Amino acid sequence: MSEYLSLVANSGQVNTPPGSYDTVKEWITHSFLGPHSNVLEVGCSTGFTSIEIARYVQAKCCGLDLHADSVATAYKNTDSYVRELVSFVEGDAGKLPFLNHNFSHVVISGHLPFVSASMRHQHIEESVRVLRPWGYLLTALYFYRRPPPQTLLDEFNREVGTQLEADGDYSYWSNLFNSPQLLLEHESVHEVLPADSSRIKEYLEHLEPSSRKKWAERLKLFNENGSYLNYFVRVHRRLPPESNLMIQIPRGGIYRSKKITVQGQAS
Ligand SMILES: C[S@@+](CC[C@H](N)C(=O)[O-])C[C@H]1O[C@@H](n2cnc3c(N)ncnc32)[C@H](O)[C@@H]1O
Repeated sequence: MSEYLSLVANSGQVNTPPGSYDTVKEWITHSFLGPHSNVLEVGCSTGFTSIEIARYVQAKCCGLDLHADSVATAYKNTDSYVRELVSFVEGDAGKLPFLNHNFSHVVISGHLPFVSASMRHQHIEESVRVLRPWGYLLTALYFYRRPPPQTLLDEFNREVGTQLEADGDYSYWSNLFNSPQLLLEHESVHEVLPADSSRIKEYLEHLEPSSRKKWAERLKLFNENGSYLNYFVRVHRRLPPESNLMIQIPRGGIYRSKKITVQGQAS
């Protein structure tokens, strides 16, 4: 376990996907997530996404992470209102300990930067394997909107334990999900805005006091790296293997359309 991941697991930091609560709500809204859903979160860290999905819609959620400390902290972060709904397991996203078609939704996002480039596609395929046909694959990933200096990238990878590359732009990260099994149903793209000093101060105040110095150094690095980043939020649908399915291509039919507001129409 890298020093950074250990710091995350043991300092009270709330580790979230890019976009935090807004992203979780976007996933829920665009994938009909509800109390009937059975969700796997890959690379759950200390449990934020699984716990929030359970809080928002009372879905059953299982978080999986490579590291025992993250899993233990995820359990500690679980409150009595969602305890019956969430569970956390130690495991490797490259070899998920679940049967085919086990889940209605799979969240796969922030663990991919920690995996070598040659393994990322296989990890996505493994997540698709455990997703039921017509289920939803949810992701949110940072990408470089402009290439960072190599020195910054090297420092970031060294300090955080990621295996990022300078050419990890929108095309690179979104193309990882190009698969005949996946249909893109929803996407939004967001600009990352750096944190000002008052936001950093507030962030630090909510961390374990003994960890604040280390976090202050990391936040400087994150802020610098953030000036090169955007992120996307996506919802993909998993297609069944049959070839004679009714699917409209181009999606939406012959016309495209744009939402308008007509004067006098109730909005
Ligand atoms: C940045 S955190 C994820 C936070 C948030 N859940 C998200 O998806 O953005 C990355 C997590 O991925 C986990 N991870 C890295 N490699 C993994 C693997 N091969 N299998 C499962 N988890 C992995 C790390 O232990 C870490 O807790």
